[in-house]
This record gives sequence, structure tokens and C-alpha cells, in this order.
Amino acid sequence: MEEENEKIIEEAQSAAEQATTSRGLYEAKMKFLGRTGKVTALLKSMREIAAEQRPAFGKKVNELRERLEALFAAHEAKVKEKELASKLESERVDVTEPGRHTAKGALHPITRTRNELIDIFAGMGFEVFEGPEIESEYYNFTALNTPADHPARDMQDTFYITDEFLLRTQTSAGQIRLMEQKKPPIKMLSPGRVFRSDDDATHSPMFHQMEGLVVDKGITLCDLKGMLDQFARTMFAETSKTRLRPSYFPFTEPSVEVDVSCSACGGKGCPLCKGTGWIEVLGAGMVNRRVLENCGVDPDEYTGFAFGMGIERIAMLKYGINHIRLFTENDVRFLEQFKD
Ligand code: PHE
Repeated sequence: MEEENEKIIEEAQSAAEQATTSRGLYEAKMKFLGRTGKVTALLKSMREIAAEQRPAFGKKVNELRERLEALFAAHEAKVKEKELASKLESERVDVTEPGRHTAKGALHPITRTRNELIDIFAGMGFEVFEGPEIESEYYNFTALNTPADHPARDMQDTFYITDEFLLRTQTSAGQIRLMEQKKPPIKMLSPGRVFRSDDDATHSPMFHQMEGLVVDKGITLCDLKGMLDQFARTMFAETSKTRLRPSYFPFTEPSVEVDVSCSACGGKGCPLCKGTGWIEVLGAGMVNRRVLENCGVDPDEYTGFAFGMGIERIAMLKYGINHIRLFTENDVRFLEQFKD
């Protein structure tokens, strides 16, 4: 018996030493102390032993069990320690290592310019209103004092969807939609995509406009000029000035083209402004009384001004971009230059 116990202990010792994981050690332990293990088998065999030998036998088996338990407990602590050490090693973080570079996106220059424009005009009390891109002839032309036989319809090459519906050629359509919904005083800013059958270095079949509309009692061309000066100073340079030249739009009377002093040369004349010192940035004018009437606003009580600018054009001037196609090519080398 004594000898046999020592043999079992030796066996257990070597099984425990071979186990490298808690799981392996547990399995080894169960071979001796588990329900089908060797010690349990010994206890079961007590029945076959003569009654007077049983207490001594039982004592020996108990001793064996205690020694085995102690043996496995000692190994358990060692294996756990090793497991923890290798886990810590594998999860080690070098806090002194320099950070990895992660690519960060940026806003598209058009979105950026659009947001900047909204910021400037929101600061003057304008509210943003967005109209639909698919418009009816009525909103895009007729209500804007441009009837079917009006020659101004040829000023813009329109993409028609049906006889009645088209891709809007100008955000001015939003003026009508807003005035139908809201009575003056009005201070509206309407950004959006517009579409024209046009394609060269400065024109693209899809581009963005920013429309502005102010309607109230006693609004004059001076209000338009003052607001434009403020816009030019914030958008371009502290010293920027604006000038108005007579023009024509069916929905404004009088109509003007607005130039901003060239911020590249300060107005002296350079290749950017073609030597004139001025750059054309937008169209504007006093809202035509016919347009107010079409929207149920009394032109004897209210007056207003409107303006419309191409966001691409403003971005090209501000960032010195020389071809409109760069905005839609989505070349990251171009886009990356607009990170903050
Ligand atoms: N809608 C005009 C255009 O597309 C611009 C404009 C807007 C002119 C508002 C006057 C008033 O060219």
C-alpha cells in the first residue's frame, strides 16, 4: 500500500509538471482526484477489504488524497503565475512609442465655402431655406417674370424633364417658394445645386448657387450695397470693396452685376482680374414688382433686393483654383489641401 501510494504520488507529480495551462492541470488533477480518478477508485475498493483493515486503509487513502491536493494546489499557483505573466507580455503597450498616423478627412471646398457664406449671412440675420432641385417651369421661370416667350429663357440652357418640369437653372426659384409661405419681413438665404447645359473651364453642367432675398418696408439699393460690402470684407479681405454695374435679369429691376476688388493685386490690376482690378462675383438687383405681385406681396408697401452667386466661383477666387472640374474629380491630392 505504502509503495503504491508513493508511485501514485510520483505519477501525479510528473503529470502536474507537464501541465502548462490551468486547463491541462485541472485535467491531470481529475485523473487522480476526479469522480473516475485513481483515489476515488481506491475508496470504492474499500468494500472488498476485510473490516479490520478498513480504518488503516481509509487513513492511508485520506493521507494520499491530502498530499495530492497539496501537490496540485502548489502547481496551480505556479501555472497561474506563468499564465498571467505571458498574458501581460502579450498585451504589453509601449507608452513611449510615437502615435500611428491615421488619415483624417476634410470638408469639400464647396461645402466649406457654402458653410462660410452661411456663417457670414446668418450673422446678418438671414435664415436658410432649401428648395427642390426638380422644379416646375412656373417657379424657375414664369413666376420670376420670365414667361414662355421671354427671350431671357434662352440666357440659360435648361435641362427639361417633361414639358412642365426641369432641373432648376437657378436658386431664384426658392424666392417664390419662400414668399408664398412667409409674409415680409423676409431675410432668406438659399443654397443649392443648379443645372445648365454648359461646360468649360469656369462652367459645369451642375454647380452650386447661394441665393439671398430681403423683403421689407423701405428696402433700397443702398441696403444691398452695404450688405455686399460687409460680405466682401468678411469673405475676401478687410480692404475689399464692391462696385455695381448695370445689368439685366427679368426678376430684378434695376439689375446689377457686382464686382469685388481683386484681392490678389489689391485693385492695381493683375492676370487674375485681367488687369481691371475688379472681379465679377454675383448678380443682384431690386426685386421686380411683378415678382412680388406673383407672390401676393404688395409692391407699393414692400420692396426688396435679391442676389445670386456661384459658390464654385467664390471658392475659385478665394482659394486660387483655376479649373471648375477640380471640384468634381475628387482627386485626394486636391481635396487634401483644404484641411484645417
Ligand atoms: N439667378 C441669377 C443667375 O442665375 C442670379 C440672380 C439672383 C440675379 C438674384 C439677380 C437676383 O444668374
